[in-house]
Parts: sequence; C-alpha cells; structure tokens
Amino acid sequence: MQGYSSAGMESGKNQGVIYLNANENPYEIAGLEGLNRYPEPQPLALLEAYAQNYGVDNSQIVMTRGADEALVILTKIFCEPNADKILISTPTFGMYAVDANAMPVGVLDVPLIKENGTFALDKDNIIEQATNADNNIKILFICSPNNPTGTSFAHEDIIDICEALEGHCVVVLDEAYAEFSKTGSMALDLDSTPNLIILRTLSKGYSLAGMRMGCMLCGDEDFITLVRTKAMDAYPLPIMSIEAAFHVLSPEIKEVVHENIEKILGERERMEKELKKSNKINHIYPSDANFLLIELDNAKEFCEYMEENNVILRDFSSKAQTKNCIRLSIGTKEENDKVLELLQSF
Ligand SMILES: Cc1ncc(COP(=O)(O)O)c(C=O)c1O
Repeated sequence: MQGYSSAGMESGKNQGVIYLNANENPYEIAGLEGLNRYPEPQPLALLEAYAQNYGVDNSQIVMTRGADEALVILTKIFCEPNADKILISTPTFGMYAVDANAMPVGVLDVPLIKENGTFALDKDNIIEQATNADNNIKILFICSPNNPTGTSFAHEDIIDICEALEGHCVVVLDEAYAEFSKTGSMALDLDSTPNLIILRTLSKGYSLAGMRMGCMLCGDEDFITLVRTKAMDAYPLPIMSIEAAFHVLSPEIKEVVHENIEKILGERERMEKELKKSNKINHIYPSDANFLLIELDNAKEFCEYMEENNVILRDFSSKAQTKNCIRLSIGTKEENDKVLELLQSF
C-alpha cells in the first residue's frame, strides 16, 4: 500500500510562514476564519486528549470521522475484494455488512444465541468458523454493548476469542456505547492482545453525533502508523469537529457529559420498570446501552401509531431474530413520558 503525502503532512502549520503549497484560498470568509485552510490530519493535542480519555497511549489511536469511517478503513485494509469475508453475529449493527457488500467482500453470519431472555455470543462456533481457512475470514466484528440488543459480552469470552483467532484474523470490538456500559471498555487489554482493535465514538455518550468524531484503538503501534500514513483520507477531520471534540473532552464538559449519562441510565431503568407494567409488552431485553429492545404484540402497528403521533422508533419486527421487536432510544424524561402515555392509548 502506498499512501498519499498531503501538503499538510509534509509541512505542518507554523505562525509567520507563508503557505502556498496546498492550493488553499488565501482569503478567509468573515465569521469562518481559519476554515480556508485544510485541517491537520491528526492534531497531536487532540490525540493526547483522546489518549487520556480512553486510557491508552496516543501512539495507539487513529482519529476518524465517526466510528463509521473506521469501519470502512478496516474493511478496506484487511479484506481482498471478491475473495475474503468478514464474520458478524446478527442481530447487530448493519454497517459492518453494508461496508463489506460495497467492497465487495463476503459476510458470514454466526448469529447470536437467544437464551434466558437475552442474547449470547456463539463463541465456539465463531472460533470454528473464523479459523477455518476455507472461509477466508479477515475481520470478526463484535459489538458490545450490541446494537440493537443492548447486550454486553464478557471480556473473558472476547479475550478467549482473540487468542484463538491470533494468526487468523483481527477482532474489531465496536464499543460505540461503552460510556453507558457497566461492563466497561477493553482498552486496558490492548497491550496484551495484538489482534484486538477497539472502536470508540463521541457520537453517543458525548452528545456529538453531528460532528462525526470517532477513533480506532490498537496495541500494535505499527498498525496505527500504517493506517495513519497509508489508508486514510488526506484530511479526514473537519476543523470544526476537531474544535468540538476538544470542547467535550475538557474537564468541565466531561462533568456535564457524565451527568447526562447518569440521567439517561436513570431514565432507562425507569422506562424498563414502567414499560413492564403494561400487558402490551411481552419482553424487554436487558440493556447495557442507551436504548431498549422491546418485544410486543403488533410491533409494526405500534411504530406506525407512534409515528402518527410524532414519535419515531426503530422497527426491527420484520427480522427473524428480532420478531415483534422495536428499539427505543432513551430520551429526556418528557420524551419518555410521551412514549408511556402513547403506549397506554395504543
Ligand atoms: C454499534 C455502532 N457502531 C458505530 C456506529 C457509528 O458511530 P459514529 O457516529 O461514530 O459513526 C453506530 C451508530 O449508530 C453504532 O450503533
């Protein structure tokens, strides 16, 4: 792989220097000062803020445009089009398969097992399929807490899987919802688990979905260097997104972020309790994230009824493993009260 050496990478940006090397426009627009220039690809100060936030070294991070961009980069790096495959465990986040299909690379599904009212990884089957050379699996995606089920998977099981797959494929652990999770992050395991790559995002816990800031973390620093120098866009992070990320990672705002997460978790608990009182609800899957997967009769009709009343839910009812299920993101107390009120009148 040969990377693109951008003007920004070659020269940096220093005060008092005249930059005529990047075909930028020298004129600033009033109110948008500085935006006539390309951003630094991976600003060091922000890398340091991420490193402190996630408890890793800044040499173990690549900052990306949301975790979504990291998914595309990883699929591109590890998978040979028309030859390799990724392994997923449905029901899970749909973008893993979408990015694979776009390459195109194959998707092998080892579905989650539904047991005791929750979902579990089919660990032995995952290991068997991912180590079978005929399958050409290059990436195993595990989402924990998993979207849309809300399930967190045991760190010990993920370590067992990583160890069994060493030399076969990488394990990409999507921790987009880790800030809401009691199970917590596996970032501390990165040093001892070289085939583990963790995805994090500021979209969920940090209220920054609109700015598209995420990252990948990996203990293998050579891999991080390879991604930064050879596999990314020349200028992946918009200047305003970089500034917003700094802001939410500052100590004062992190306190607010923490309070908001506590409010969401409190509301999740209240909603679970209140929803269970309704005889229209058949099951609520245990959640370690900021949403609930809810099984009810007439799920599709319920979604339509809610939409008629200006409340939009995510309908998973047509999929076999989530038959009659809807996913409810936890809102503010007032928004959640509206859901309970409408459930009564449904
Ligand atoms: C499991 C999971 N991973 C990744 C993403 C994408 O995150 P980002 O907004 O950082 O691109 C989402 C978004 O909903 C998600 O649910």
